Amino acid sequence: MKKTMLETVDLVKYFDTKNGIVHAVDHVNLSIPEGETLGVVGESGCGKSTLGRCILNLIPATSGQILFDGKNILERGGKSKDFRQKMQIIFQDPYSSLDPRQTVFNLIAEPLKTNRMGTKAEMREKVEAIMDTVGLAPRLATAYPHELDGGRRQRIGVARALVMDPKFVVCDEPVSALDVSIQAQILNLMMDVQEERGITYMFITHDLSVVKHISHAIAVMYLGEVVELAPKEELFAHPRHPYTKALLSAVPIPDPARRTMERQLIKGEVTSPVDPAPGCRFAPRCPYATPECLSPSLGMTEVGPNHQIRCCHPLD
Ligand SMILES: Nc1ncnc2c1ncn2[C@@H]1O[C@H](COP(=O)(O)OP(=O)(O)O)[C@@H](O)[C@H]1O
Ligand SMILES: [Mg+2]
Repeated sequence: MKKTMLETVDLVKYFDTKNGIVHAVDHVNLSIPEGETLGVVGESGCGKSTLGRCILNLIPATSGQILFDGKNILERGGKSKDFRQKMQIIFQDPYSSLDPRQTVFNLIAEPLKTNRMGTKAEMREKVEAIMDTVGLAPRLATAYPHELDGGRRQRIGVARALVMDPKFVVCDEPVSALDVSIQAQILNLMMDVQEERGITYMFITHDLSVVKHISHAIAVMYLGEVVELAPKEELFAHPRHPYTKALLSAVPIPDPARRTMERQLIKGEVTSPVDPAPGCRFAPRCPYATPECLSPSLGMTEVGPNHQIRCCHPLD
């Protein structure tokens, strides 16, 4: 049995807005074994980034627990600096998250400087080693982000996370802004690094095809809630929640002729996570919905080994 590196227990993040309370993350329970990747998938606005930010304590959770290596990071008196170094994030858009006036070397060295990690010579050595790891040629040390293509810029993003020697990394749509061919290179890099260093990832994406190779397990989110959680192979082969099924059938298929036939779009509007009605949040769009779906007691139920769904009409 691998140990659990990251666990959320009833994690909640509500935003109090003038339109009502946004249930961005609503009682999310997830756990990720050490060295594995949990893919977190769902449409825009379902709470993926908010979940990632809460886990890293970049924004305060409303309630619940975040256990990193068994310790609740939200408890006061915890060594928050330690957690911050061991938990890192890679953002979607490397361009907007990198200071355009800094060289590649300085961008990668910055987290080390901020945390006063080692002497100047040690920092230089670390930055050079990480540049090699992520496939940035030494000559690029003096380049600026605008001189690089999207793939190289995201390699800087990966390097900035890795230079802190993290145990856990939240990857928030790290390849969504890149061309498909470049996406594969970055995903391969991330998988190689995981194998070498045993890093644990939470990999956030709106695109199921992106997490197909990198994930060990997948959590599907809908309007703040996890609606299906399963090992990757199981989720792709036997989705049990109608929303997952719909998402899967919307995965673009490379052959353009088949694409139009097999692309079955989900009907209906995404309702908002503002003051949600009790019961299933997907019911208004679900072809199988019955009055039973609006029962307030709808929770996650076990439908197989490590396979849970939030649905009263599981698919066969
Ligand atoms: N600071 C905020 N204030 C109010 N609402 C927010 C804030 N941040 C996010 N939200 C809302 O929370 C929900 C989840 O957003 P987000 O986590 O960004 O989703 P995703 O990353 O899945 O696209 C959305 O309805 C969004 O509008
Ligand atoms: Mg997001």
